[in-house]
Amino acid sequence: MTIISKLAIAASLATALTSVAIAQDNLKGLTIGFSQIGSESGWRAAETSVTKQQAEERGIDLKFADAQQKQENQIKAIRGFIAQGVDAIIVAPVVATGWDDVLTEAKEAEIPVMLLDRGVDAPEDLYLTSVASDQVLEGRTAGDWLVKEVGDADCKIVELQGTVGSTPAINRKKGFEEAIVGHANLTIARSQTGDFTRAKGKEVMEGFIKAENGGADICAVYAHNDDMAVGAIQAIKDAGLKPGTDIKVVSIDGVPDIFAAMVAGEANATVELTPNMAGPAFDALSAFLADGTQPAKFIITESKLYTPADNPQGEYDTRKGLGY
Ligand code: AHR
Repeated sequence: MTIISKLAIAASLATALTSVAIAQDNLKGLTIGFSQIGSESGWRAAETSVTKQQAEERGIDLKFADAQQKQENQIKAIRGFIAQGVDAIIVAPVVATGWDDVLTEAKEAEIPVMLLDRGVDAPEDLYLTSVASDQVLEGRTAGDWLVKEVGDADCKIVELQGTVGSTPAINRKKGFEEAIVGHANLTIARSQTGDFTRAKGKEVMEGFIKAENGGADICAVYAHNDDMAVGAIQAIKDAGLKPGTDIKVVSIDGVPDIFAAMVAGEANATVELTPNMAGPAFDALSAFLADGTQPAKFIITESKLYTPADNPQGEYDTRKGLGY
């Protein structure tokens, strides 16, 4: 290689690195509104604290609004952000429908909107990007694990669904059903919402246990999140049964408490959901503001299965103290 071509490569590398640096720096001093769903789960608490930390690292002035699980509060908060003239909005939409009007208002005000962790049934041009997991895959991963785990044995499953009308509840149900279809020995005997909370998970599981011969007829509980699984574990113990052994427990999120339950032999599998949805969203916004780069409409985060074979004590230690 000639000295001239070496210099040319060095120069273009330097230009590329400078534009990356500019792209990362250009959020400093911006005001971004964050409409969060609430604090229904340990995962949600972690997402809130990671988002605040990601904003701080980039010098963003983050305006935080907790909607206490209500869509009307989210819509009110977003309208407030628009009225304040924020530079961008991030929103974790509690349910899938009912967003067209407020997202159109944000678009008309030329405020980019980014969706975090849940999707919406609205035209894709109303938001810049959506950062979320493949929730159908999460359900399928949980179901595939159970299919392998039970083999040919008959298995009556009870399902704790997430918030009615939310995309994780819809998609995690769909994915799990896709995994068990064609395995006649696995059946979902009962399915009800536990609203993604520990208290509701416990209460609904108590009802399932009563209805299913004191729990003796239940082979497994599939919970759409770990918090409901932890509630279910308590209900199983209260009924005098052994969670993880008498009734298998499979769920989604990867919060510290589920790893603690695995260490105690009371939970069998979880599919991890990263609480860092804001980092990729801020990076997408940064590139968009720098030179109009259109991000992927759907930025998909990883979904990894964990079982007791995956060092649950180590996973617990790594996660505790991260805002869960
Ligand atoms: O949207 C993500 C889901 O919402 C998490 O799995 C659950 O814990 C939370 O409430």
